[in-house]
Amino acid sequence: MAGKNYLFILILVSAVAILTHGCHGINTETNSIQNWLKNLHLAREKITELQFYVQDILSGPNPSNIQVARANSTLTSPTSFGSVAVLDDPVRTGPSSDSEIIGRAQGLFALASLEEMSLHMTFDLVFTSGDYNGSSISIVGHNPYLNQNRELSVVGGTGAFRFARGVVAVNTVSLNSSTGDAFFQYNVTVLHYI
Ligand SMILES: *[C@@H]1O[C@H](CO)[C@@H](O)[C@H](O)[C@H]1NC(C)=O
Ligand SMILES: *[C@@H]1O[C@H](CO)[C@@H](O)[C@H](O)[C@H]1NC(C)=O
Ligand SMILES: *[C@@H]1O[C@H](CO)[C@@H](O)[C@H](O)[C@H]1NC(C)=O
Ligand SMILES: *[C@@H]1O[C@H](CO)[C@@H](O)[C@H](O)[C@H]1NC(C)=O
Repeated sequence: MAGKNYLFILILVSAVAILTHGCHGINTETNSIQNWLKNLHLAREKITELQFYVQDILSGPNPSNIQVARANSTLTSPTSFGSVAVLDDPVRTGPSSDSEIIGRAQGLFALASLEEMSLHMTFDLVFTSGDYNGSSISIVGHNPYLNQNRELSVVGGTGAFRFARGVVAVNTVSLNSSTGDAFFQYNVTVLHYI
């Protein structure tokens, strides 16, 4: 009797493991990606909405956004045209330094307009906890960051977000005008497979 119960629990545990695996598919070993692709015809498309806050830190000894290159003419450009920066911003559940970190926004951007203050951005949202731990979403787009509302695009992803596409609504929640430190709200609507 005890043996039977044990077997049942074991089957239950395996079923749960397979289910969670199927849902999030964050095993990135080559075999696992191949298996996932093999079963793709059985997968369903799904829309997931994610809401979080990206903290951009320019001040202090550990900035998360640093300029890495510029042209000489960038210094005299009214739009800082030609400046290139790398970011590794904490992604948080709320617009405060106390809010839980659920990932990082890692990538780069360039001041890419002669006419307005605008960024071309290309970066990954790398999840480090929660349901999507280990998965990432790749984002690219035009970000005229002085506008209150901007829109970027989801161009792909890994793990739970393989073959993802979608849109990202971004706005500025707070901006410290003396340091440049800021919080941005991100509403990501992403089409992916489960
Ligand atoms: C940029 O400015 C530096 C310092 O003034 C100068 O040495 C360099 O030749 C300039 N580069 C170009 C491409 O004009
Ligand atoms: C996220 O995943 C990594 C790698 O699998 C693991 O080491 C870490 O403990 C996980 N973090 C959380 C908060 O679950
Ligand atoms: C995100 O969605 C919430 C509603 O869920 C809305 O209040 C907020 O303005 C949206 N933010 C952006 C950046 O679109
Ligand atoms: C802006 O940052 C400075 C320096 O850290 C700080 O003293 C000031 O309180 C901040 N302002 C706002 C509005 O948070």
